[in-house]
Amino acid sequence: MKDFAGKIAVITGGGTGMGRELARQLIAEGCNVAMCDVSAEAMAETKRLCEVERLPQGLRITTHIADVAIEGQLIRFRDELIEQQATDKIHLLFNNAGIGGGGSLFTNSREQWERTFNICWGGVYLGVRTFLPLLMKADEGHIVNTSSVNGFWASVGPGVSHTAYASAKFAVKGFSEALMTDLRLNAPHIKCSVVMPGHIGTSIVSNSRKIQSGSETERLTDIEVRVARERLKGMGTDTAAMSDEDIQKIALDRARSFRDEAPTTAAAAAKIILDGVKADRWRILVGDDAHKLDARVRKTPEEAYTLDFYQSYRDEVGWKLA
Ligand SMILES: NC(=O)c1ccc[n+]([C@@H]2O[C@H](COP(=O)([O-])OP(=O)(O)OC[C@H]3O[C@@H](n4cnc5c(N)ncnc54)[C@H](O)[C@@H]3O)[C@@H](O)[C@H]2O)c1
Repeated sequence: MKDFAGKIAVITGGGTGMGRELARQLIAEGCNVAMCDVSAEAMAETKRLCEVERLPQGLRITTHIADVAIEGQLIRFRDELIEQQATDKIHLLFNNAGIGGGGSLFTNSREQWERTFNICWGGVYLGVRTFLPLLMKADEGHIVNTSSVNGFWASVGPGVSHTAYASAKFAVKGFSEALMTDLRLNAPHIKCSVVMPGHIGTSIVSNSRKIQSGSETERLTDIEVRVARERLKGMGTDTAAMSDEDIQKIALDRARSFRDEAPTTAAAAAKIILDGVKADRWRILVGDDAHKLDARVRKTPEEAYTLDFYQSYRDEVGWKLA
């Protein structure tokens, strides 16, 4: 797809981060946008930002509350889109919504584990199922599924359990790669790309916490403080002398530094993704850190989960993720 003007794009998780920046850049290129999110306020802010520059006549931006892990809500989103965008087709589908958390089978609950997995994997799968009939009706279509570097490297360092997110992101990558053949055989006018970002400066750390806990507050619950303490210990920090308030501060600071000290901004990431779609690339790595990790995992796969591998990679790219 060489340009987006006059097309219709669906973005899941358009409320903040990369979803918001995709919406802004698509609107700026004259593409209609229908987004969903679990946060109405966040989507209202995305819409406001998109409308800062006056929208060209007839360009539509619509917002829809939907949890991507729940098929009925996605179907409602699709029905609202058909009505509000006055269309029976879409051209672009960005399955972008995702959260972290629920990393351990031991220290997290099954509910937390499945919440992450069902959003990160189920949201992509159900998004494709739900919107495929509308993509089929367009003259050309493109599905863009967001995985992660955790779709080819199942870790954020050897001291942290990361099973739910990594399994989901591997599933997104495998599904997208297999889908390319299914589309070529059965719907050759639709293309598919898998996006694998490295560390991108967004509020995913605090958003994930809020979605996992069902609470809007930035303060950790007692259980979360305990889990955060364990996580710090796992990363080699001596937490014995730290008060719960110290742990609260470290967690808040981590969420802030994840957003503000990332090597790639959400806006730069969205541009890389859209340029990748225009260049018809199915494999879109986002950020130098993602390219370097891809090369390292391919070069020494047996070493990929050792402390040496992590430390030498982290020192090279300056990652402070874990
Ligand atoms: N930020 C990174 O470093 C990074 C790296 C690799 C991959 N990713 C992936 O990129 C995607 C976008 O993440 P981001 O960093 O922009 O995060 P973000 O938290 O800024 O944005 C994600 C948006 O998705 C929404 N969302 C979460 N669960 C939802 C659900 N069940 N239904 C609908 N909306 C939901 C959130 O409310 C939020 O607005 C995610 O899939 C994430 O896993 C992010």
